[in-house]
Amino acid sequence: MSVGSDLTRADLARLVSRSVEVITTHQSPSGAYPASPDFSAYRGYSWLRDGAFIAEGMSRHAQITSAIASATAFHAWCARVVTARARQVESLVARAGRGQAVPVAEMLPTRFTLDGGVGADEWWDHQLDGYGTWLWAAGQHVLRHGTHVEGLADGVRVAARYLAAFWDQPCYDWWEEHVDQRHVATLGAIHAGLRAARDLGVLDRATSEAVTAAIEGIEALITAEGVADAGHLRKWLGSDAVDGSLLACVTPFGLYPAGHRVAAVTVAEVERQLAVDGGVHRYLADTFYGGGRWILLSGFLGWNHARAGRPEAALRYLEWMAAQATEQGELPEQVSGALLAPERYQEWVGRWGSVATPLLWSHGMYLILADELGVTA
Ligand code: BGC
Repeated sequence: MSVGSDLTRADLARLVSRSVEVITTHQSPSGAYPASPDFSAYRGYSWLRDGAFIAEGMSRHAQITSAIASATAFHAWCARVVTARARQVESLVARAGRGQAVPVAEMLPTRFTLDGGVGADEWWDHQLDGYGTWLWAAGQHVLRHGTHVEGLADGVRVAARYLAAFWDQPCYDWWEEHVDQRHVATLGAIHAGLRAARDLGVLDRATSEAVTAAIEGIEALITAEGVADAGHLRKWLGSDAVDGSLLACVTPFGLYPAGHRVAAVTVAEVERQLAVDGGVHRYLADTFYGGGRWILLSGFLGWNHARAGRPEAALRYLEWMAAQATEQGELPEQVSGALLAPERYQEWVGRWGSVATPLLWSHGMYLILADELGVTA
């Protein structure tokens, strides 16, 4: 972990300001955060998952007024985009209620164009976690600042009705893979999102009951099938593998609190299998861009260390993240120094160009971990 150790506190603080600047500069006037402004496959699209964590990072840096306003604008954009699909959700929920199977292609999208449309490009749509993560992040923002977010109550109701009806369906995971599986990190995001929706106090009685049933259903399913014999959460139900996304099930989603044995074993096992010198792989079989180490996952691992009372370990992850910034102070999606599948790297460069840089989610996670450790602009 020596790579980042020559960075001073002032260097770390400078990257806080720079991260806010990168995110603000690229935020659309609509409020949407593009995942990465120039990267061929992401350009022009905003993901609920990425955006929710970016907004959480911005929301935490209250000393920068524009950061809070930026998060508020993102949440208002999400509320508009989700509410605009209220009729689609009602029809999906009604069909599911009649016992009809709803094809994946008819479910809500995973990413939106910056003006809230679906866009013309094919994608691995149908990922439920983003709707849960958005509800969770919106709840955090409102709780922290008491901010009024235009249209939030309507958006929360629509997203909550959608998740309460479909939480137990298989869908693509955080990495937009394995549509036939039920992913534990997805269930953790939905669980946190539905709790947040309930705590916001905007649900009507029927929705509230459906939400409570879904929360209890997730808990029962995870208890029965979500934990491997080795004691850690499973990448998906039935798998014995771990995945970097499972870190979020502990902090911040609290599916298991940091002190619980399942939480401790999960974080330790992800670190043992996937962390290398401060960077964290997504999962062992990853071949995307050769399977590099993801900046944002170092943020999740550091965040978990911080919450479990290990600030020094957390700081080493923050330092590693900062050491990956380009000369322009931009954080990439992943770094290619210790690849799991080096023979697959070039194929992705040929297909989509060099690794997405800046990735706004990487900056968002840097802001979160910096705040956890008291590093401010
Ligand atoms: C990742 C997703 C992410 C998207 C946009 C994909 O390559 O697998 O987790 O949401 O990029 O950043």
